[in-house]
Amino acid sequence: MYTQAMDTMGKDAVDGEKTIRSAEDMQRQQRFDAHIDAGDFIEAKDWMPDNYRKTLVRQISQHAHSEIVGMLPEGNWISRAPTLKRKAILLAKVQDEGGHGLYLYAAAETLGTSRDQMFEALHSGKAKYSSIFNYPTLTWADMGTVGWLVDGAAIMNQVPICRCSYAPYARAMIRICREESFHQRQGFEALLTMMKQGTDAQKAMVQDAVNRWWWPSIMMFGPPDDQSPNSAQSMRWGIKRISNDELRQKFIDATVEQARILGVTLPDPDLKWNEERQAHDFGTIDWSEFWRVVGGDGPCNRERLAARVKAWDDGAWVRDAALAHAARQQQVALAA
Ligand SMILES: [Fe+2]
Ligand SMILES: [Fe+2]
Repeated sequence: MYTQAMDTMGKDAVDGEKTIRSAEDMQRQQRFDAHIDAGDFIEAKDWMPDNYRKTLVRQISQHAHSEIVGMLPEGNWISRAPTLKRKAILLAKVQDEGGHGLYLYAAAETLGTSRDQMFEALHSGKAKYSSIFNYPTLTWADMGTVGWLVDGAAIMNQVPICRCSYAPYARAMIRICREESFHQRQGFEALLTMMKQGTDAQKAMVQDAVNRWWWPSIMMFGPPDDQSPNSAQSMRWGIKRISNDELRQKFIDATVEQARILGVTLPDPDLKWNEERQAHDFGTIDWSEFWRVVGGDGPCNRERLAARVKAWDDGAWVRDAALAHAARQQQVALAA
């Protein structure tokens, strides 16, 4: 579902120079740089600098983790959806997110990292996932709002990744973005139904959900460009195409009109059109909240991680059975 300036979260600094060890490597590096400069795609079998590979593993695996952790706040509402239609839509959406996780884990595996390593990093708390999923989903209106704002922000973030220089990631993102578009629209439509046909209490529920999700949604684009040191390298490598601040501005500009159609107020008194900039000005983002949630101290961090670890532990017998079956098949094949 969701990248969140994943390039800002690694502890290891990106330093392309360290990868150059020999004349041969230097030539490979030059060829790689020429490909990147020409806008060519890099495939799994192509030579690539270690830090390019590391950055991609980190970003793609964190993106994959975000997809499957993102299933939790919504899965929580499947059994409480108000109608059969809403339940079927939500079920399909949550299944899509599981599929997104699978494409992305597979894309990360092409870089030489095993799925077990990635899961271990998630379960031990070493790997991050998008901090938006550490917020609770308190009412049914949160389902519409997550679709509208969170999937909406995800699309804004992810469409440029369809042109990412690493081809397996770019290919996965094309399908993911198509599905995210459905996620955003179903959310908007659910909210529109409540705002146009709902009771006053339902309208108030929508406004309350928007009040709670607005700021965390615009934080999804990551810290401001001047505080996002790895972004420049990711831009040079063609992994990132548009900066955090530019994407945030595009999202805000697109969302203001949608909020007007819905009839909800975005909770920012400083949000207003700036004729000169041809863009909306907006209020100050509380980055201390962002870093606190990224750091593990959001409202649901512990709960989300515990749910993932439990799912992994509960699934141990399935993995064991699959391995035993594979070993048995191999024995049979050898004996034949
Ligand atoms: Fe989604
Ligand atoms: Fe997704």
